[in-house]
Amino acid sequence: MSDRRPMIAGNWKMNGLREEALALIADLAERTGGPPSHCDVVLCPPATLLHAVDGAGRRGFGWGGQDCHAEANGAHTGDISAEMLRDAGCGHVIVGHSERRADHGETDAQVRAKAEAAQRAGLVAILCVGETEAERDAGDAEGVVVRQLAGSAPSALAPETAIIAYEPVWAIGTGRTPTLEEIAAMHGRIRAWLDERTGQGAGFRILYGGSVKPDNAAEILALADVDGALVGGASLKAADFHAIIAACPGN
Ligand code: PGA
Repeated sequence: MSDRRPMIAGNWKMNGLREEALALIADLAERTGGPPSHCDVVLCPPATLLHAVDGAGRRGFGWGGQDCHAEANGAHTGDISAEMLRDAGCGHVIVGHSERRADHGETDAQVRAKAEAAQRAGLVAILCVGETEAERDAGDAEGVVVRQLAGSAPSALAPETAIIAYEPVWAIGTGRTPTLEEIAAMHGRIRAWLDERTGQGAGFRILYGGSVKPDNAAEILALADVDGALVGGASLKAADFHAIIAACPGN
């Protein structure tokens, strides 16, 4: 790890009602003793909870949305803009998660527009990329990820306003993960691409996501080009999420 500050982000997906969310955050804050000094912690709950968890209730953690619309406002029923997330206290937003790409047919071009909307609103975009199992089996994992990066990274790509999350689709919610060698190779490839594109590859944070748990976090987070994790299921259990935070090497 270089001087990049690691980040552990929790993606709650479509989980959490107010009471259980408040209890989870209080439990987590008690375990961590507030925002840890060795890494950034960002919680991405459903948008309905962002105002429910306000002020001191945020416990000093970073907050993020799970998706945003590309426009700032307008006739887009059911959508939420990056500006609205910012207004609700977010500093980050996940864009291009594979569940959005699969369930909502989001294309690379749409994801790029969302990442650019995040930047416009003053949010850091956490841009997700990752191959399916069939694509990996076909030997095309790196090709897919590079094509997704080329198609969905914002045109003004910079380490201050974009974080990349490598999330192999087949590892999400399955309990399966790539080998450490495969994770290291993909993160190295992503960093090389970022460097070719911006000349600042070493400055970008690249998170790994997909079945990160307390028992595999330390070895994954110790890899040179892994700058943190995007955690789904395990972020819904304070003890597990805390264990992952604790396993993160500091910087
Ligand atoms: P998981 O999800 O940790 O439950 O595999 C990760 C993600 O989808 O961000």
